[in-house]
Amino acid sequence: MDNVYIMDHPLIQHKLSILRDKNTGTNEFRKLTEEIAVLMGYEALRDLPLEDVEVETPIEKCKTPMIAGKKLAVVPILRAGLGMTNGILVLVPTAKVGHIGLYRDPKTHEPVEYYCKLPSPIELRTIVVTDPMLATGGSAVDAIKLIKEHGGKKIKFMCMIAAPEGVERLHREHPDVQIYVGHVDRCLNENAYICPGLGDAGDRIFGTK
Ligand code: PRP
Ligand code: URA
Repeated sequence: MDNVYIMDHPLIQHKLSILRDKNTGTNEFRKLTEEIAVLMGYEALRDLPLEDVEVETPIEKCKTPMIAGKKLAVVPILRAGLGMTNGILVLVPTAKVGHIGLYRDPKTHEPVEYYCKLPSPIELRTIVVTDPMLATGGSAVDAIKLIKEHGGKKIKFMCMIAAPEGVERLHREHPDVQIYVGHVDRCLNENAYICPGLGDAGDRIFGTK
């Protein structure tokens, strides 16, 4: 599939396996989520545009490349997407951060929106949407629709674990969005949880339940 990138780097796969373990506690889960976001971000940001700027080294003046244009925007889908935000900020500390609040209705599994605040001008920024889990795809599809309604154009979506149906739906509804995935798992269960997955990412990051 065009625009879908599976990040099969051994370090990402190794860290994902520790995350999946039900005995991995909140502290370690949080650290690993951030580390995986750094590794994924490094790859996902390799097409950022550059422009030559003039710099004076101790030896002489030269033209040398720096990231061009407006600052990147990182947009976590609350809550669990917050766990990946600092990983991107490690790479691009000057990025702006927006927030989209969505939760899945436990019965219908449909996303319910409760918050949206995006940095402006959103239309001039590369936007990295983060959420560790892409299950039915409903949350990612709605979040990206919301960003587009606010004017967002160049959008990347980054998740650690996806179900095949989530990737397929997100790609079908937003074919222009680049999708970066740590691992595509087997399927969804009757509660729309990813199998084998890692359970509820928000609860594991924040120690709730
Ligand atoms: C989880 C996850 C995604 C969504 C994925 O969030 O972080 O946002 O479910 O499921 P979908 O692809 O079927 O929409 P949840 O609704 O549990 O909210 P939380 O992050 O606040 O725990
Ligand atoms: N949300 C999660 O946190 N985990 C899943 O497996 C599915 C949706």
